[in-house]
Amino acid sequence: MSRLDLVIFGATGFTGLRVVEQLAKVAKKYPAMTWGVAGRSQAKLEALMANIGKKIGEDMTSIRIIIAEVTNERSLQDMCEQAKVLINCCGPYLMYGEPVVKAAVEAKTHCVDVSGEPQYIENVQLKYNDAAKEAGVYIVSACGFDSIPNDMGLVYLQQNFEGTLNSVESYVSVEVTPEFQNEAAKSGIIHFGTWESAIISAGRSKELVPLRKMLYSDDLPVFEPKLRAKSTFHKLDEDQWCVPFPGVDESVVYRTQRFFHDHENQRAIQFKTYIKIGSLCTAIQTGFGGVLITLLSKTAPTMKLLLKYPKLFSGGMVTSEGPTENVMNNTKFTFELYGEGWDKNTDVSEKPNKKAVVKVKGVNPAYGATVTAVIYCAIACLTEQDKIPGIGGVLTTGAAFHNTSLIKNLHENNLTFEYIPC
Ligand SMILES: NC(=O)c1ccc[n+]([C@@H]2O[C@H](COP(=O)([O-])OP(=O)(O)OC[C@H]3O[C@@H](n4cnc5c(N)ncnc54)[C@H](OP(=O)(O)O)[C@@H]3O)[C@@H](O)[C@H]2O)c1
Repeated sequence: MSRLDLVIFGATGFTGLRVVEQLAKVAKKYPAMTWGVAGRSQAKLEALMANIGKKIGEDMTSIRIIIAEVTNERSLQDMCEQAKVLINCCGPYLMYGEPVVKAAVEAKTHCVDVSGEPQYIENVQLKYNDAAKEAGVYIVSACGFDSIPNDMGLVYLQQNFEGTLNSVESYVSVEVTPEFQNEAAKSGIIHFGTWESAIISAGRSKELVPLRKMLYSDDLPVFEPKLRAKSTFHKLDEDQWCVPFPGVDESVVYRTQRFFHDHENQRAIQFKTYIKIGSLCTAIQTGFGGVLITLLSKTAPTMKLLLKYPKLFSGGMVTSEGPTENVMNNTKFTFELYGEGWDKNTDVSEKPNKKAVVKVKGVNPAYGATVTAVIYCAIACLTEQDKIPGIGGVLTTGAAFHNTSLIKNLHENNLTFEYIPC
């Protein structure tokens, strides 16, 4: 069977179905682009396509449906052989991700996903980088809210800085607009699938140290001035207390910087990321809540409890039904990336003399911005392969897409990037 340009796997999931719906709209701008959906249930996929068709007023019967189940290697192979680029929305990736990557590499199919689980992402780099290069395909993880704003935001800062960037501190804030806070208290703001992935990843955190030792035999050079971590609870401005951001972003950005250092001989930029919480009391609650969840994720019985009572343990943020459309569309986020370095023609042994900020803004972080981001990452793999470094491999978004139109496309589609000189 002929290859479709894009295939969405995990199309029936909370995230996947939103990728399908948005791709149906985006595809109108690319009339020659062909696409299909994949999952393990024909009936669910047919119902999904009928619903989306009704919602957007289009006949979806010509969209190819592919049946694939993670435990059936042959079905994954068949699915990948029908796609040029696979958008994998089937998570948790630590449970389901690796067989999909293996099938994609064997079928010579590019693969992008929205994982935020560092063990999965780094294990894939370790095991499939050489095979992906040999197959001439790109495997790019973390193409969603994890970690596009930080990874591409830093690329954007670097591209506009006109000088030498030494360090970047990123602060993210997420806010539901006041009119929808009551609704958010009932529906939550995060779907169970994201929670399950985060809990499994937290429970397996000790895998990271040996994995990283295998991935990189040496450390990046230490640059001066060294960027020190801020104290766990600190203030950015008058009423904003902040804590370290526990996501995958620092590890993704590190790999991007590693790539630029190893392959493009660039000075690696030091990076730390934090989240703005609000009052000191909320920051302390969030910090201790995070530590408690991490501890509970370490044994099977307590992990079971976390997965059985997501709303209780997340302080109301996570539900099995997921947030309502109202809540999602009224959740705003801003990343502020504060860069420091030297103006061009300045000796980098002197004190840094230049600062700039990049702001990355959007709405609906996990199920809107993520969806836009992964679709345009897939389109970059499809249409701008000549601008992606090398001949294939397992890359970060920053390494893969820094020369493509990704940032421009995201900016034009409500995930905005702004450079502010200071
Ligand atoms: N980076 C980000 O910011 C971001 C944002 C959103 C989501 N995510 C990630 O995306 C992933 C999905 O989240 P979600 O909330 O959409 O989860 P979900 O609703 O549970 O969706 C999971 C999908 O995987 C499919 N699936 C599960 N087991 C399968 C198997 N054995 N064979 C074939 N398909 C299988 C499900 O199919 P059925 O419908 O048939 O069960 C469903 O389509 C998670 O890992 C989450 O962390 C990341």
